[in-house]
Amino acid sequence: MLAIIGAMDEEIELLLADLTAHEQLTFPGVTLHRGVLDGVPVLVTRGGIGKVNAAMTTTYLLTQGATRVIFTGVAGGVHPELRVGDIVVSTDCIQHDVDVRALDYPLGTVPGELPAWPADEVLRAAALDAAREVGGVHVVSGRIASGDQFIASREGVQRLWTTFGAACAEMEGAAVAQVCSKAGVPFVVIRSVSDTADHDANVDYRTFMPLVARHAKQVVRGMLSRL
Ligand code: ADE
Repeated sequence: MLAIIGAMDEEIELLLADLTAHEQLTFPGVTLHRGVLDGVPVLVTRGGIGKVNAAMTTTYLLTQGATRVIFTGVAGGVHPELRVGDIVVSTDCIQHDVDVRALDYPLGTVPGELPAWPADEVLRAAALDAAREVGGVHVVSGRIASGDQFIASREGVQRLWTTFGAACAEMEGAAVAQVCSKAGVPFVVIRSVSDTADHDANVDYRTFMPLVARHAKQVVRGMLSRL
């Protein structure tokens, strides 16, 4: 079954509104919504903010039969061409806040794990096709940098761009990617840009998040007919 995760209510309420045969499954800290969206059986959930919540939610989804996972939401743009409203489809995900350099592991690498978790090519292609239909926005295929930090400085953006070649910064994607990769379950992360992760990021985020969350939702709906 296809699973769709958003970090916050704004990111999934637009999908839940159209879910039919809606049934709720309650787990500690998370409610999963099982139903049918545009004729496709799905699990939809609000995963909460940050990598721990994202990993926990993904694990619940896998135990409930998720065989493909789409993560949708907003992000801070890092790629210099990204503007508010633009869309990033993941090539891969990294954890920018992992630092085990004292034991000679490269920055971002969890010991014993992949340095980056690649997204599924079929899901990526469907996401890119659907994103290009949104219209009026720039679509970038790129690396998602996740960490338990809201990035709101020019230095922070510069670090993610030069150290990791990241397209955008958010707080969950790589955790979903890590859990899915271990289970051999295909995933993709789709993010619309709510801010450019600089000193205005907090203001822009509050202003634009509910608006641009619609773009990510549109991409998910567009994907359903392509999968
Ligand atoms: N999500 C949206 N904007 C973000 C930012 N600037 N940093 C981290 N996560 C975000």
